[in-house]
Amino acid sequence: MQDRLKSLIESARKEISTTADPARVEELRIRFLGKKGELPAILSGMGKLPPDQRRSLGEVANSVKAEVEQLLAQAIERAEAQKLEAELRGQKIDVTLPGRFRPPGHRHPVSRTMEDVVQTFRRLGFEVATGPEIELDYYNFQALNIPADHPARDMQDTFYLEAPWVARKHPELANSVLLRTHTSPVQIRTMLSKKPPIRIIVPGRVYRRDSDLSHTPMFHQIEGLLVDRGVTFAELKGTLDAFVKAFFGSEFKTRFRPSYFPFTEPSADLHMTCVLCGGKGCRLCKFGGWIEMIGAGMVHPNVFKAVGYEEGTYTGFAWGMGIDRLALLRYGVDDLRMMFENDVRFLEQF
Ligand code: PHE
Repeated sequence: MQDRLKSLIESARKEISTTADPARVEELRIRFLGKKGELPAILSGMGKLPPDQRRSLGEVANSVKAEVEQLLAQAIERAEAQKLEAELRGQKIDVTLPGRFRPPGHRHPVSRTMEDVVQTFRRLGFEVATGPEIELDYYNFQALNIPADHPARDMQDTFYLEAPWVARKHPELANSVLLRTHTSPVQIRTMLSKKPPIRIIVPGRVYRRDSDLSHTPMFHQIEGLLVDRGVTFAELKGTLDAFVKAFFGSEFKTRFRPSYFPFTEPSADLHMTCVLCGGKGCRLCKFGGWIEMIGAGMVHPNVFKAVGYEEGTYTGFAWGMGIDRLALLRYGVDDLRMMFENDVRFLEQF
């Protein structure tokens, strides 16, 4: 057997090293290594040998196989090099042609707007916090002072999920899994995980059953939360006014009007000088000169209770705003849906 292996490798060396023809290389591969080829034929008698002989023969056979494979690979390389050379000579390939252009991507207008808002609040001392988009009723509603029968749940038409992976472990939560309708559950998650002082901003995607010119089922919000001892409504006003002036320009004015959110008391809506007409009056501000930009308020005592903060120890404020409308205004787009259709002809314009 040793001898037969030796003569196999010798003839393989001779025959393979003289060819550069792909069809011939394949023929030789089948002849030497194929199922019915020479190497398997030699090895078929191996089972009858005593174990120690079998082992040493196996080693030789492996190295023969490896060498034949290497010879075959080299022959293929030679074949390709020859082909390329022939094409170059026949001018089928023009190596002076420029390479293919791969256009670089760039950030989406909504992402850019979000990043700029985040940067502005970071300069005011806020840290970014995030949370899951698939939420539990408890964090999205209950702990935010929105009990099961609360009418405020109608304000945010909710996508509920069938969530077998939750129901399997916690059957009692089977009907409580949803896509978050706002970024506010991250307030709860943050306060449950640490004590004040807290100063966070929460950028993220949120979901509501809504779809028209100015509403998509998925959109973006940024939320803010500041909690400490002795925080006042004046600080809320000062912080948000500072944001508007830093982000839009110092000529922009703000005003606050009473509003309602279950998780803040008192609550307010911030209105600012219309970004389109500068306050003179236009279609966007319905000729009033002001646009509503941010919902805000002082954290409701029931929210502090839900996260286990001792009663009367802390005060704080929170706010939330939509990012998508801001991006529309900034880039002069009038249909929100275009932002998410991902048509490159649209996206390339930014
Ligand atoms: N979560 C509210 C909304 O989605 C916005 C908000 C956040 C209001 C924080 C007040 C305080 O409408």
